Amino acid sequence: MADFKQHILVTGGAGFIGSHVVRLLVQKYPDYLICNLDKLTYAGNLENLLDVESQPNYRFIKGDILDQNLLAKLFNAYAFDGVIHLAAESHVDRSISNPKEFLETNIMGTVTLLNAAKDAWQENREGKRFYHISTDEVYGSLGETGLFTETTPYDPRSPYSSSKASSDHLVRAWHHTYGLPMVISNCSNNYGPNQFPEKLIPLFIHNIRTGKPLPVYGDGQYTRDWLYVIDHAMAIDLIYHQGVNGETYNIGGFNEWKNIDLIRLLIRLMDQKLGNPQGHSESLISYVTDRPGHDRRYAIDAHKIHKELGWEPSVNFEQGLDATVDWYLNNQEWLDRVTSGAYQAYYAQQYAQHD
Ligand code: NAD
Ligand code: DAU
Repeated sequence: MADFKQHILVTGGAGFIGSHVVRLLVQKYPDYLICNLDKLTYAGNLENLLDVESQPNYRFIKGDILDQNLLAKLFNAYAFDGVIHLAAESHVDRSISNPKEFLETNIMGTVTLLNAAKDAWQENREGKRFYHISTDEVYGSLGETGLFTETTPYDPRSPYSSSKASSDHLVRAWHHTYGLPMVISNCSNNYGPNQFPEKLIPLFIHNIRTGKPLPVYGDGQYTRDWLYVIDHAMAIDLIYHQGVNGETYNIGGFNEWKNIDLIRLLIRLMDQKLGNPQGHSESLISYVTDRPGHDRRYAIDAHKIHKELGWEPSVNFEQGLDATVDWYLNNQEWLDRVTSGAYQAYYAQQYAQHD
């Protein structure tokens, strides 16, 4: 192995956010070795990393974070200095129909990884770092006002958010009990290229393009706080390098949108780009049965990361959404490939429940 300044294990690097993190690190730090461990579930796609896969400082390992023996071998072979842990089951609707898989991957997978890092680093923790990527959903649901801060009490309400909250608590427990050096960040909703089209924005882009109904859950007045995925990746890079051991950082762009307003904006943008008359795709809006336990509003207070680490988003929502729509329109084959096969069965089952 060439002489690299740092060896970093990224888990879930073939997924949506993970692939942007891997690309950023591989390109920005040619003197770091970036190892991407991913099980390649339905959400993992090596096509997301075609542009960096042959870089000399990049390795891909297909494997499961629940595989204790594999993790021990990898820590032994690569002597990791840091772990950036993104691997997870990430879609709330899937967690409602299949909670167990979420508990296994998100809780037991994180514990397995924590133990592997603890064992490998027990002789010398100097310069080591376990970075756990989490979500704002652990804080629960907001009313009309207020923001989630780093000290907001945890109140997760879906199987997904409960599993992520559990994993956050476990990371802190490994820090306090075993002295594991760690940081955690909790980010708001991401959007951008390469997101699997089960999530709102890519799903609706796909459906507008193909003239399919746009299934708006409940009254459409639910609020999310949207951040461009590359800005999240840049925040992760910063926190990995400059975050204070044991600390938590909230990440968000102060960019709240009610779902229905965001959907109307997306329709306007798509109709313009597709050459449709203005408002053409409005008729696709279809109000469907609500998601069970649907959290009303998420909104992040990102002052701490701004004040302490100097991070702020690099693009505004209009720029980010425009680039995202362009990416999906220019990568229709990617979208067509990931929406063939097993996706069809998921779609039929998921949206039959909402008719
Ligand atoms: P994703 O579903 O697109 O990707 C998850 C990746 O993890 C996939 O590549 C998958 O193959 C891999 N994976 C799943 N189980 C695994 C296992 N057992 N072993 C190894 N690899 C496994 O998810 P995402 O949206 O990119 O989210 C990444 C992380 O960021 C998650 O931890 C999620 O909770 C968190 N997060 C996501 C958002 C968001 O808006 N998407 C916001 C905040 C935090
Ligand atoms: O807040 C961060 C979280 O954001 C991440 O931790 C999760 O991994 C990520 O999936 C995302 O969770 P959400 O549930 O907020 O995202 P989703 O894209 O599934 O839904 C966004 C909003 O749109 C939510 O209010 C539900 C609504 N929605 C979603 C879908 C898929 C619809 O109205 N119709 C739909 O078909």
